[in-house]
Amino acid sequence: MKTAICYYSRHHGNTRKVLDAMAQEGSVDLIDVTTRQAVRLEDYDCLGFASGIYGFAFHKVVVDFAQQYLPAGKPVFFVYTYGGAKGTGAKAMVTLAQEKGCPVLGEFSCKGYDTFGPFQMVGGIAKGHPDAQDLEKARQFYRQLCSRRQEGTQP
Ligand SMILES: Cc1cc2nc3c(=O)[nH]c(=O)nc-3n(C[C@H](O)[C@H](O)[C@H](O)COP(=O)(O)O)c2cc1C
Repeated sequence: MKTAICYYSRHHGNTRKVLDAMAQEGSVDLIDVTTRQAVRLEDYDCLGFASGIYGFAFHKVVVDFAQQYLPAGKPVFFVYTYGGAKGTGAKAMVTLAQEKGCPVLGEFSCKGYDTFGPFQMVGGIAKGHPDAQDLEKARQFYRQLCSRRQEGTQP
């Protein structure tokens, strides 16, 4: 299965660590949505969209990128990391996928080290995350997603 995951990961690279773990499981291209590059998302079997949670939601750059480039009907999944309060999580992406007729295959999230604002004063929260267990769960999530598609039990 050929997959691309379009992501934004700036605060501590937490989300990118999760995506690197998933990419160990198969053919996955990681696309940083802030770099200008020619991408043909039509060529992939399925697409992931990933972000740290910023202000209780997926980062706007990822939502805007998907709004512009997500091909109609393409199967999608979502990945995010958060310090402690995920807020609406991937809700904006789910809504967008529905608008574009894209089946949602699943969603993975875990905590990510957070030193934003006042948390810096206490050395941050969710220290050490994503940890080895988070990364193993991420690999498992992607493995299961691939095998469900291979078995034809998912779009
Ligand atoms: C500007 C800013 C806003 C944030 N807002 C939230 C938030 O609303 N809820 C939360 O749980 N974490 C919040 N965080 C923490 C990040 O979601 C968390 O550290 C995440 O793992 C960052 O992912 P990244 O390192 O891949 O960018 C925020 C961090 C920053 C820098």
